[in-house]
Amino acid sequence: MKIDLAFTYEALKSLTLNTKVIVTIDVLRATTTMTTALYHNDLSIIPVREIEKAVELKRDDPNSLLCGERNGEIIPGFDKGNSPFEYQDITSSNLIFSSTNGSQTIEKAKQGKTMYLAAIINAKTVANHLVKNHQDDEILFACSGKLGKSCIEDTICAGYLISMIQEQINPDLDDSSTIARDFYQLNQNNIFEKIANSEHGKYLADSGYVEDIKYCTQKDLLDIIAVYDKTKSKIIKL
Ligand code: MLT
Repeated sequence: MKIDLAFTYEALKSLTLNTKVIVTIDVLRATTTMTTALYHNDLSIIPVREIEKAVELKRDDPNSLLCGERNGEIIPGFDKGNSPFEYQDITSSNLIFSSTNGSQTIEKAKQGKTMYLAAIINAKTVANHLVKNHQDDEILFACSGKLGKSCIEDTICAGYLISMIQEQINPDLDDSSTIARDFYQLNQNNIFEKIANSEHGKYLADSGYVEDIKYCTQKDLLDIIAVYDKTKSKIIKL
């Protein structure tokens, strides 16, 4: 296994993606929220970058729910925002989801030969799945970052995944993966504090979402793999 890492979705633009197994990470909060929705409900998720596109898709399928955020808050006219607590009991079987950074990453990462979502809440399941099924592949951890810059929470999650993979096999790491692994190991005993004091952590706390940060920083809460189904253009539970 070879592991590369991109700290931002911007960094994906210069990489060859279609030969890689890509793991998209947006701990606060897109991949945590989508993983939670798939775990608790029988549904699939259409990821979209643009709000206008999301609205158009809802017109075609009025039973679907419009979900997502801009600046951390629900998009006006949408059914749900981006708090994982909103996604534990859903009646619709189809979500149309658009968020500020996570959806930009997914838009690029879905070009990978396979694309998974990961968050701290399902990291162990994802790490074990990669070891079991992708030992001969090139893995790319695609951290979303924040507005084109790297961020603490996604780097910690990627580093945690890499640490768990290294406990089982001996992957070839690029420098970015080594940096993420070392950063995780340095902070592994105070993940909540570190992430709560990140730029986006402080922004969410100031907006009243401290409970979301607590939830998003819990290790291995859910045993689920979320994968992009290319034939349906949807994220589904494996
Ligand atoms: C994003 O995609 O930028 C986020 O998930 C932002 C958030 O809702 O916290």
